[in-house]
Amino acid sequence: MNTPAPVETPVERLLALLAPDMDGVARLIRDRMASQHAPRIPEVTAHLVGAGGKRLRPLLTLAAARLCGYDGSDHLKLAATVEFIHTATLLHDDVVDESARRRGRPTANLLWDNKSSVLVGDYLFARAFQLMVETGNLRVLDILSNAAAVIAEGEVLQLTAAANLDTDETVYLQVIRGKTAALFSAATEAGAVVAGADDVVALALHDYGDALGIAFQIADDLLDYRGTDDRLGKNVGDDFRERKMSLPVIRALAGADEAERDFWQRVIGKGDQRDGDLATAMAIMTRHGSLDSTRDTALEHAARARAALGPLPVGPIRSQLADLADFVVARLV
Ligand code: IPE
Ligand code: IPE
Ligand code: MG
Ligand code: MG
Repeated sequence: MNTPAPVETPVERLLALLAPDMDGVARLIRDRMASQHAPRIPEVTAHLVGAGGKRLRPLLTLAAARLCGYDGSDHLKLAATVEFIHTATLLHDDVVDESARRRGRPTANLLWDNKSSVLVGDYLFARAFQLMVETGNLRVLDILSNAAAVIAEGEVLQLTAAANLDTDETVYLQVIRGKTAALFSAATEAGAVVAGADDVVALALHDYGDALGIAFQIADDLLDYRGTDDRLGKNVGDDFRERKMSLPVIRALAGADEAERDFWQRVIGKGDQRDGDLATAMAIMTRHGSLDSTRDTALEHAARARAALGPLPVGPIRSQLADLADFVVARLV
């Protein structure tokens, strides 16, 4: 007899707890990413969706709905909506960031072109909206359509803050709360609302998603300097090349002497980057402890996520959500 593989991470344990629901979501994603008329759409979506991804956000919607005692099936549509919005933003984001690798594969913009990524991204956004409308739940439509606007706002704010050495931590927080945490908090809150949860519970799940998303993005920004291509499935150093004002850079700048400021001005401000500059940036950040302090800030938001779960019903889903908060930053410790 085969012994089942040990279930290691909170994501895997949530997947196991919610397996029939996740199967339903996978079916919806497969059915709705198709197109009868434009073959480029299934080519691109199959490339990206077929590479998997962690499916964190739909898992959050399902977990929130079940945690709130939901026994209908609209949460499947909302979970698929959330993953479609995420997939659409990834297609657009890789064009904007000129990224070459995603989910361990060459990006769609590299394999096809920017035009295909933009247009297929638009298609997926539209499919997401169709799916959520099918639930007929106006409060949920409000939450998810608001998130889609806030994500785009975060990406645009980041674009205009890039290369601007005056960008401070308040702007950074606004960027990541918009581009990343808004979808996490909408995913959890929509799950609660579709289940008919009361306001205290819906707010607790919103706050959990917000803190989790912020911790997740800070971790991602740190790994853009300190991670490895293979573990991330993306290329390390993209943020440096794109002159992003992420938290490690902001903190290194805050303590910079004159020579270091000149360095940041040249590589981030002016974008004049030469061989060895990324290694120099890493050395400066290490000297100032800005990588470690970025990790500490991610851990603080993870702790805030865990604490937000206080008002929610005790049980296996809540405890896996608590562990998930530690898990998203565990790769940094
Ligand atoms: C990538 O999100 C975009 C960020 C917010 C950093 P994920 O790391 O959740 O992407 P997939 O879906 O697992 O590939
Ligand atoms: C992630 O942005 C947020 C969105 C895709 C909206 P990033 O640019 O920081 O994420 P990666 O590193 O490309 O996954
Ligand atoms: Mg990117
Ligand atoms: Mg980006």
